[in-house]
Amino acid sequence: MSGAPYIRVGFLGFGTVGSGAYRMLEDNREAIARKVGAEIEVVRIGVRDEAKKRCASPSLLTTDLGSVVDHREIDVIVEAMGGLDPAGELIERALRRGKHVVTANKELIARRGAELVGLAARQGLDLHYEAAVGGGIPLIQPIKHQLAGNDILRMAGILNGTTNLILSRMTDEGEPLETVLAEAQGKGYAEADPSSDVDGHDVQFKLAILSSVAFGKAVRPEQIYREGIRGIEQADIAYAKTLGYVIKLLGIVEAVEGGSILGRVHPTLLPKAHPLAAVGGVYNALCLRGDFVGDVTFMGRGAGGEATGSAVVGDLIDVCRNMRIGGSGDAAPFSGEANARPIEELTSAYYVRVVVPDRPLVLGAIATIFGRRNVSLSAMEMRVIDTKLNHGEIAFLTHRCLEADLRQAVEELRHAPEVLRVCNWIRVETL
Ligand SMILES: NC(=O)c1ccc[n+]([C@@H]2O[C@H](COP(=O)([O-])OP(=O)(O)OC[C@H]3O[C@@H](n4cnc5c(N)ncnc54)[C@H](OP(=O)(O)O)[C@@H]3O)[C@@H](O)[C@H]2O)c1
Repeated sequence: MSGAPYIRVGFLGFGTVGSGAYRMLEDNREAIARKVGAEIEVVRIGVRDEAKKRCASPSLLTTDLGSVVDHREIDVIVEAMGGLDPAGELIERALRRGKHVVTANKELIARRGAELVGLAARQGLDLHYEAAVGGGIPLIQPIKHQLAGNDILRMAGILNGTTNLILSRMTDEGEPLETVLAEAQGKGYAEADPSSDVDGHDVQFKLAILSSVAFGKAVRPEQIYREGIRGIEQADIAYAKTLGYVIKLLGIVEAVEGGSILGRVHPTLLPKAHPLAAVGGVYNALCLRGDFVGDVTFMGRGAGGEATGSAVVGDLIDVCRNMRIGGSGDAAPFSGEANARPIEELTSAYYVRVVVPDRPLVLGAIATIFGRRNVSLSAMEMRVIDTKLNHGEIAFLTHRCLEADLRQAVEELRHAPEVLRVCNWIRVETL
């Protein structure tokens, strides 16, 4: 588009996401210029190691990241470096210097989103972070715009591709978690330190961001209950299968009475007919329920340079269009802090697996313990696991009950003479 005005962009970070976004800007340059009504020109790229081979001209690279945010001609900063600092300081500095910001940084937005979005709003600038949740799947913008008229009642999602891949492999190949995790690390799907994925921190950050946008109040990661997948054994997957379920790591948040929310990240038994049950491998998906729109499901590639780059470029185009019409300040600040309820107040169905001596009256004693705590049973599977010792294993499903009651029942089972071991208990999603 010759003669079109230029919008100048500076990148902070040029790894998987940064270079993915850059390649999209290069490959689709003409179409993007047509849609924006201006040429988007990347004029500076901040990296750690200038000597690395990149898909951009070496003349654009610098290790002086401050010089990118201070650059007089740069209108928009794309932050794709990750981590809290220096990324946080640099974004703050860019906003104070009057530059719009697009970021993919989930940890930073989950921890400092309210403050940075507030700063952007006061400055009349855009701060977009679509890429921080769900990779290439549009989630933040649809919730912020098209679905904004709804009261969001509930969101449940598969928001981490690595753990979804691990659980899919465990289900399909019957391998234990350690074997599948080591293989995923070998192939580069899982980090050398897998804690962020496997222990659920990554989903906790993403759910905090989604909840803040959906409920319009800042939700801190610590306000969301978190459990990872390390405790999932092959036996749980096998019982789940027999009972008609698959196990997935879900992030779930719901609006509860009095304007509060209850957010949680944990492995979940999902009925095979649930829309999220078929989401396998590295894919992500989110089911959202609004009071007027009803149920909406989003699905797509939750990570990777191209998918995440697509979300970054989408945000960048939005910022550039706003600039072209002289409007901005679409930062949509949150109004105060959300009130989050503790997990003990959750009402859910549960799966409980125990090892017992195979003798009369055991089943009755266990049912009595559940019953005393208002927990009623809906299904059961049992098998002999040691014929010499005469040990059996039972997997129970409960009807919906209060988590505080379920926890007390489990505690009592742990000390009951009729129970040798409580192996696991997992929340169950109903249709
Ligand atoms: N990867 C994904 O699929 C994905 C999906 C959604 C969101 N995200 C988020 O996107 C962000 C970037 O992730 P990524 O996977 O693209 O990371 P990455 O491949 O490790 O790239 C990070 C980039 O930032 C640069 N960098 C990091 N720290 C720096 C510092 N202190 N000074 C100068 N440069 C620095 C690195 O420079 P060098 O190249 O010189 O090392 C590299 O270019 C993260 O916040 C991540 O959570 C990633």
